[in-house]
Amino acid sequence: MKNKTTNQKNLPASQLQEGSERARPILHQHASEIQPYGKIAKLPIALDQQVCAADVELLNQILADTMTLRDMYKKHHWQVAGHTFYQLHLLFDKHFEEQSELVDAIAERIQLLGGISIAMAPDVAETTFIPRPPRGREEAPVQISRLLEAHEIILKEARTVAKQAADAGDDGTNDLLVSQVIRTNELQVWFLAEHLVDVPVVRAENAKAAASGS
Ligand SMILES: [Fe+2]
Repeated sequence: MKNKTTNQKNLPASQLQEGSERARPILHQHASEIQPYGKIAKLPIALDQQVCAADVELLNQILADTMTLRDMYKKHHWQVAGHTFYQLHLLFDKHFEEQSELVDAIAERIQLLGGISIAMAPDVAETTFIPRPPRGREEAPVQISRLLEAHEIILKEARTVAKQAADAGDDGTNDLLVSQVIRTNELQVWFLAEHLVDVPVVRAENAKAAASGS
């Protein structure tokens, strides 16, 4: 006895597809954008359109820089070397996760202000103020220095934009920048910067001096 599968193999393609038109995906679709980058599609959030437009532009700069910092953390997570490998490998990934959350929060703030958040790597690369690191591996202190410089760029612009947003009545943007962006970046700076303090690992300085003087 022939089974059903064997019978279906002999059917022409048109008969196999018959009646399934509505279930078939419509592929390779193209159309013009519904909103060009840089234009505002105002939402009813009781904020002036000029304020929304100004904050969207400023937030997109912070977004591009935060995406760059996020990706630098992953680069350093993969490429770190040396006797502190394990702790830095874990710390860099923790900070990567926290920066990823900031990226999403900033991007969604831009969208709800009626703007368009920057998204793709080539656009981010053209926009960011953070210097591009080399593709190759670098020593851990150099990795940390790069991260600290990137954090400071973001903190400086976040403080400026937070104040500007508050003055313009955009309390939501101010709150996002102060409560999330600034506080997260400041805390991460502390965790990084302490790794660049040159203190003895095993023998205290005084003990060394006492030993050499005897
Ligand atoms: Fe990993």
